[in-house]
Amino acid sequence: MKPIRIVFFDAKDYDIQSFETALPAYREAHPDLPECEMKFFDTRLSADTVNLAKGADVVCIFVNDIVDGAMAETLAGMGVKLIALRCAGYNNVDVEACFGKIHVVRVPAYSPYAVAEHAAALLLTSIRRIHKAYIRTRDFNFSLNGLTGFDLHGKTVGVIGTGKIGACFIDICLGFGMKVLAFDKFPNERLKEKGVRYTDLEELWKECDILSLHCPLTDETAHMINRDSIAKMKKGVVILNTSRGGLIDSEDLLEGIKSRQVGAACLDVYEEESSIFFHDFSGHIVEDDTLARLISMPNVIVSSHQAFLTQDALANIADTTLDNIRTFLAEGTSVNELCYKCGKLQECGGKKSGKCF
Ligand code: NAI
Repeated sequence: MKPIRIVFFDAKDYDIQSFETALPAYREAHPDLPECEMKFFDTRLSADTVNLAKGADVVCIFVNDIVDGAMAETLAGMGVKLIALRCAGYNNVDVEACFGKIHVVRVPAYSPYAVAEHAAALLLTSIRRIHKAYIRTRDFNFSLNGLTGFDLHGKTVGVIGTGKIGACFIDICLGFGMKVLAFDKFPNERLKEKGVRYTDLEELWKECDILSLHCPLTDETAHMINRDSIAKMKKGVVILNTSRGGLIDSEDLLEGIKSRQVGAACLDVYEEESSIFFHDFSGHIVEDDTLARLISMPNVIVSSHQAFLTQDALANIADTTLDNIRTFLAEGTSVNELCYKCGKLQECGGKKSGKCF
């Protein structure tokens, strides 16, 4: 039997390593997965690069590979059967346009701990000035001036979005002895039993020393952190965003930092990140003045959409992707399929109305 050809776009060294490690072990555990030939390309999927997918059965893409109607048409015309997203979010894929042409699967969860722990790491780094201390001591400067932090114990944190990642972050905060206020459309009873109090955004802005965003980016949540909400916050508030850049109006955040209303910001995501993050721009002039100004602030820490990047999460991404491919080859669908017709962009695995593709 001809091996299954999987072509990866936007593949970085860590992707290659995790898939090359996962495949032999996965095939040993699941001998029904046919032999697979994996081809990795560093470039993103675009009209200029799509020909690299010629001969592929599966195209495996990441957060910044765009699949619009034309791309879905081209890939399907080349004989590609499946688009396997190796991420949870799918705002880069026009699932409606893919419907009836090409199947789309994703990895709905890979490690909420990875993201929650990164948020906690950013918070501790920021408030205990570890990023400054690291640079000082490397230069044998052992002065402590300007490094005064504050205890997390007894402080109030506001968590917006208490799904998988928000709940893990809350557990970490409770471990520090913090008081937790939360906002979510669907409160989690388990968290309430642990002492978390759900409230509205107005109270959250007013009461919290630290705010952490863990909700998805939607029309409702876009720019929820803006000039108005910042003005209602406690002076010196610390804002953490490991969710999606568009939740924060970056220019308003910059104003909040300049006016000292915002005490610190820790950003793993940024509104305009798609043309910047995941690439090396050292030695280049960065055109984005807002990002450049934010990075220049002593109380802003930026990491480049790194929160998911742990060995554990990468292993889970590879395993779930291989599982999606195996199930698709065997059954023509997968529990992680994004089905436009019956699920209103939610995965149904064809179970709600048969194979509705
Ligand atoms: P989840 O779906 O388990 O939880 C999201 C929560 O947000 C749900 O409880 C939902 O009810 C709530 N929510 C929805 N609309 C809301 C609104 N308008 N206001 C308040 N809460 C609302 O998702 P999960 O896995 O916890 O991921 C959260 C976010 O983290 C994702 O949307 C994604 O943007 C981001 N993420 C970031 C990564 C990174 O590497 N930085 C990696 C993975 C996810």
